[in-house]
Amino acid sequence: MNLVNNARDALEDQPEKWVRLHVTEENDFVEISVTDSGKGISRNIQEKIFQPFFTTKELGKGTGLGLSIAKGIVESHRGALYYDSFCANTRFIVRLPKLQPQPHSQAA
Ligand SMILES: Nc1ncnc2c1ncn2[C@@H]1O[C@H](COP(=O)(O)OP(=O)(O)OP(=O)(O)O)[C@@H](O)[C@H]1O
Ligand SMILES: [Mg+2]
Repeated sequence: MNLVNNARDALEDQPEKWVRLHVTEENDFVEISVTDSGKGISRNIQEKIFQPFFTTKELGKGTGLGLSIAKGIVESHRGALYYDSFCANTRFIVRLPKLQPQPHSQAA
């Protein structure tokens, strides 16, 4: 949700507006990418976007917590959430292992 909301916010002032979600499967992983028609995030901002409370949005619009919380959730499932700097547009990738570790069963 946060990736899609970020895409929507980024496109507000862009003439070309689209968001593409793509899901691929690769051995033990699934990859979900969210790409928007923006032209990428500048390198100096890229370094900060996953920091809690970092936002470029106006006061009252963003808390700057979305990406850091999403990254924490994905990592708690042994996955990864990262910005794809090779894409000509703006793309974030969520990579999740298909198998999750089973919780230890309690002895009766
Ligand atoms: N698709 C995107 N295009 C351009 N910049 C982005 C995009 N996604 C994230 N960013 C940048 O990363 C910053 C941090 O994003 P994050 O989701 O953590 O916080 P936020 O969207 O500002 O606030 P919140 O998610 O708490 O409402 C954004 O303020 C913006 O500068
Ligand atoms: Mg956000």
